Amino acid sequence: MIVLGSVQAAVELLENRSQIYSSRPISVIAQLVSWDWLLSLLPYNAVWRSQRRFFVEHFSKTMIQEYHPIMLQECHRLLVGCLADPSRGRQHLRNLPSAVIARIAYGVQGATSIKEKVALAEGGMASIRQMLVPGAFLAELIPALRYIPAWLPGGSARKFAQTHKKAVIRMRDQPFYEVVDAINAGSSVPSIASSLVMHMQEENDGRELTADQEATARDVVGAAYIGAVDTTSGLMEFLILAIAMHPGVQSKAQTELDRVVGHSRLPGFRDLEDLTYLKAIVMETVRWLPVAPLGAPRLLERDDVYKGYHIPKGTVVSYNAWAMLRDPQDYEDPEKFVPERFIGVNGMIDPLIRDPISIAFGFGRRACPGVSFALSLTTIFAALTLHAFDIEAGVDEVGDPVVLKAEQTGEGISCPTTFPRSIKPRSARTEGLVHDLIPGCDEGI
Ligand code: HEM
Repeated sequence: MIVLGSVQAAVELLENRSQIYSSRPISVIAQLVSWDWLLSLLPYNAVWRSQRRFFVEHFSKTMIQEYHPIMLQECHRLLVGCLADPSRGRQHLRNLPSAVIARIAYGVQGATSIKEKVALAEGGMASIRQMLVPGAFLAELIPALRYIPAWLPGGSARKFAQTHKKAVIRMRDQPFYEVVDAINAGSSVPSIASSLVMHMQEENDGRELTADQEATARDVVGAAYIGAVDTTSGLMEFLILAIAMHPGVQSKAQTELDRVVGHSRLPGFRDLEDLTYLKAIVMETVRWLPVAPLGAPRLLERDDVYKGYHIPKGTVVSYNAWAMLRDPQDYEDPEKFVPERFIGVNGMIDPLIRDPISIAFGFGRRACPGVSFALSLTTIFAALTLHAFDIEAGVDEVGDPVVLKAEQTGEGISCPTTFPRSIKPRSARTEGLVHDLIPGCDEGI
């Protein structure tokens, strides 16, 4: 196994030689738990190519604009939820990306159904979180352990699979087949799933989908559902942590919001262009505590030579995004949270400072195809939350002050170890703005 520690090496191998560095290692646990259909784990082959093409079509920068109304509605629901019950702020936040993706991917409607789909995603995600802890399963190193029955010592891989397999398949299949049933009943609503199925039906001159087509459509949408959940909420959680730990940054962002948006309304997508400091906060959050500190591993498909080193076929090649994002040559005082580092003398984002997004979302052909979704949702969430609320560390359940730390969990997809608990309206006026949002949008999640 090789871990690349510099952007230069990652670009030279994962991007410039992507024809041989774009596969993924086979995970014994993923196979046992039935995660091996997932786009992000597929080897570099024709199935991956076809799924990735469909995925990118529905998550391009242009397509994301179609999803703005849903993103905005769900962010409004979050604001109302935080106003009603600030102590559940972190839970409201964690539910936001799942609710948005359930609506976009499957056209789920109504607070109760959304809540049900959020719970379904949670059930499926439980296993992937554990699988992504490096070294969590001995069976990844000694594949023969996969054959040990669950009830024998050493059978933990099978036991784990038994516990989680049903939830994974349910999460992938249930919402998708509900869409197929709705299409057949003539009652479907627009969604990625319905658009994929109907597009394939058209290609078949109206005939039913083949088993391969059905699996492709189902798995592409399932990959979006899974890809969006923990990653995007992780980024939002780090942003809120950073804001609470840096009151100066918070008030500077609020001053910018007051100037651009004013006091009589909440921000919308059209304001984001003019919120340069807010954009810099999102970039600095992506850099400061990266959600995927070690990216995702690749499998080298042919022998290679790099800088005089022979790298044999079959080598697992990972990259240390965390270290790259802390390289002092690119980012002065890298431990500090300083959004200003991205702003040039003209007050705009400085193109000469390396964009952390080009590292944190991966490299080459396997780079994250959900990047525009994640950044759009996080930025509008940040604009709305900072415009409406003041965020502070607060106190815990027993009244002791919360001590916030710039610290992340050790999982493959990480989140903060501490989180602020005080979310208060900035003023009676912003409280009123949140109050006036969609009547009834606080019931449900
Ligand atoms: C803060 C949010 C996110 C972060 C930090 C993130 C990060 C990553 C990283 C590091 C990879 C691996 C790239 C590589 O191999 O070099 C990846 C892959 C992937 N991401 Fe994301 N991601 C985020 C959000 C999303 C969202 C919102 C979606 C779906 C809408 C998504 C879907 C995927 C998929 C499907 C892959 C696999 C691509 C492939 O293997 O071809 N991600 N992501």
